[in-house]
Amino acid sequence: MCGIIGYAGGKQAAPVILKGLERLEYRGYDSSGIAVIDGERIDVIKTCGKIKALYAKTDCGAKPNGTVGIGHTRWATHGVPSDVNSHPHTSQDGRFSIVHNGIIENFAELKAELTAHGIKFAGDTDSEVIAQLMQYLYDGDVLGTLRLVTERLIGSYAIGMICTETPDVVYAVRKDNPLVIGLGKNENFIASDIAAALEYTHDFVQLGESEFAKLTAHAVTFYDVNGTPVEKTPYRVDWDISQAEKSGYPHFMLKEIYEQPRALTETVRPRIRGNEITLDRIALDAKNANTFDKIDIIGCGSAYHAGIVGKAFMEKYCRIRVNCMLASEYIYSDPITDNRTLTIIISQSGETADTLAALRLAKKLGSHTVAIVNVMESAIAREADDVLYTHAGPEIAVATTKGYTTQVAALYLIGLKIAKIKHTVSDARYNELLSEIEKLPNKVQTILDDISQIKDYAEKYAEHKCVFFIGRGTDYAASLEGALKLKEISYIHAEAYAAGELKHGTISLIEKGTITLALVTQSALQPKMLSNIKAVQSREGTVLCVATPKTKDVGSDADGLLVIPDGDDDVTPVLTAVVLQIFAYYVAAKRGCDIDKPRNLAKSVTVE
Ligand code: F6R
Repeated sequence: MCGIIGYAGGKQAAPVILKGLERLEYRGYDSSGIAVIDGERIDVIKTCGKIKALYAKTDCGAKPNGTVGIGHTRWATHGVPSDVNSHPHTSQDGRFSIVHNGIIENFAELKAELTAHGIKFAGDTDSEVIAQLMQYLYDGDVLGTLRLVTERLIGSYAIGMICTETPDVVYAVRKDNPLVIGLGKNENFIASDIAAALEYTHDFVQLGESEFAKLTAHAVTFYDVNGTPVEKTPYRVDWDISQAEKSGYPHFMLKEIYEQPRALTETVRPRIRGNEITLDRIALDAKNANTFDKIDIIGCGSAYHAGIVGKAFMEKYCRIRVNCMLASEYIYSDPITDNRTLTIIISQSGETADTLAALRLAKKLGSHTVAIVNVMESAIAREADDVLYTHAGPEIAVATTKGYTTQVAALYLIGLKIAKIKHTVSDARYNELLSEIEKLPNKVQTILDDISQIKDYAEKYAEHKCVFFIGRGTDYAASLEGALKLKEISYIHAEAYAAGELKHGTISLIEKGTITLALVTQSALQPKMLSNIKAVQSREGTVLCVATPKTKDVGSDADGLLVIPDGDDDVTPVLTAVVLQIFAYYVAAKRGCDIDKPRNLAKSVTVE
C-alpha cells in the first residue's frame, strides 16, 4: 500500500526516484509524485495515474532539478486519486515536503486544530497533516520537530521528508509500516522495499519501530524514539536486480509463474539432507513438538489459502488439530490460544498489517510463533519467534504465484518434520512424501514446458461472465486459490465451492454457459466428483476438468480436460495451482487486463 523512496546523493535525484517508483508501483498505482530540493526551494511534480504519467510530466526525470528528494506512488485510502491528493504533500509555507505510507487515524482532529490556527489544506488526504503539523510545530530543529509530530500521530506510518532548512538531508521514520535504508557509495536511500534501491546497493538497514533516520549523501544516522543516536547493523541482500525486472516477459506475473521451479527448489532443497528435514533455526525437536496440542495457521488471501492446504496435510500426518484462520478475523475473535498452541504465520511480504497484528496477538497470548515469509528482515520475519524464509525471490506482480506455491511447500516441510518427530507417519510414507516434495520443481517445469492446452482453454472461455471452481479435500483448497487468481486479474466473477456443497444452494446459478472448473486430483474422491460433475452438466453447464493420469477418466464426458503430471495426491495442490495461475493469466491477457496491476489492488497490504 503506497510506495515511498528518498534519495540523497551526487546524482540528479529525479531519474533515480522515478526508477525506484517504477519498482514500487506494485504497492499502489493510482497517482504518484516527486519532490526535490532545488537550492532554497522544494519543487514538486505530481499527477494522477500510473508512473508513466509522472515520467511524462517530469520530461522523463529531466525535472525537477536537484540531488536530494523523495517520491511516492499511491494506493488511495483517504481522498480520491487526484493530482492534489497525490504525495508528496508540502506545508503551506513550502518548507517541508513529505511522503507517507499508512493511515493517520486522528487526522480529522489534527486538521481541525491546524485549520483553527489558520493553516490551509490543499487536499483531502490524512497524510497532509504531517507536513502542516511540521510547519506548525517547527522550532528550528527539524529532527526534533519530526519527533514532536510523530508524538501527535495516531495510526501507522512510514514517512520520508525533506526540508529547505537542511537541503542535503532526507529524514525518515516508521511505525507499523515498512521502511528500509539503502547504503550506497556516496548516496543513500530510503525505500518501502529493497527493490527500489537494489540497482545501487545490496546493503540495507531495517528501520526499527518508531526509529528515525537522517540521510545525507555520505552518512546515515539512526535515532531511537527519544532522539538518542543508535547503532544499526546492515544486512546484505543477495537478490539480483534482474529478478526485479521483466527480463523479456510481457508481465511480471508470467515471469514469476515461470520462476516457480527455481523458487520451489530454493524453498525445498537446502532443507533436505539425506532423509532429514532441517528447518533453519526453527526449534522443533521431540521435546517441544510434543508440547503443542494444536496448531493455528494464519494468513490473508492466498497466504490463507496456502494455510488451508497445510492444514489438511498436517492434520493427516501429524494427527494434531489445526485451525486455519484469516488474520483479519483472528485478531478480533478472542482466540483460544496459549503456550500449547504453535502458531504458523504466513506472509509473502512479511508486512501485511492484519497478519502482523495476528502475530503480535498470538505472541501476547503465549503461543510460540513460526513465520513463513519471503521478504528478508520484514516486520513479521523479525517479530516472529522463528522464521522460515521461502527464498522465492522478489515477487512484483500483485497476484501472488511463486509466493503461494513456496508457502505450500514450506508447510509440507514443517508438517512432515512434526509428523516424523511425533511418530505419526510411518518411515516408508515419510520417505515417499519427502521424495515427492523434492520432485515438485521438476513437475512444475513439466507443466511449464507445454502450456498450450491451458492457454487454449483460457482463451476459449475468456469472455464468460461467471466461473465456478469445484473440488473436494485439498482440491477444494486449490479451488479457492484458483478462483481468487482468476477474479483478481481478469475481473470475471469466480467462486470456489466444495463440490459437495454445490447442491445445497449454489447449483441454482448453474445454467447454459456457466463454466465450472472441476479439480479431480484426489483418487479416493473421484467417484464423488464424477457425480458432482454430472450434476453440473445436467444443468447445461460447461465443465473443464483438471485431473491426474490416475483420475483422468473423470473427464471423458467433460467439455475439456487438463492433465497435470502424475504424483502423490497429497502434494498435487502445488501442481494444480500452477495450472490455474496459467489459466487465469491467459484469460486476463485475452481480455486485455492490466495483469500486473489489477484495479483497486496493491501488493503488501499495510493497512487493516
Ligand atoms: C492474491 C494475493 C493476496 C496476498 C495477501 C497476503 O494474489 O497476492 O491475496 O496473498 O494480500 O499477502 P502477504 O502474503 O504478503 O501477507
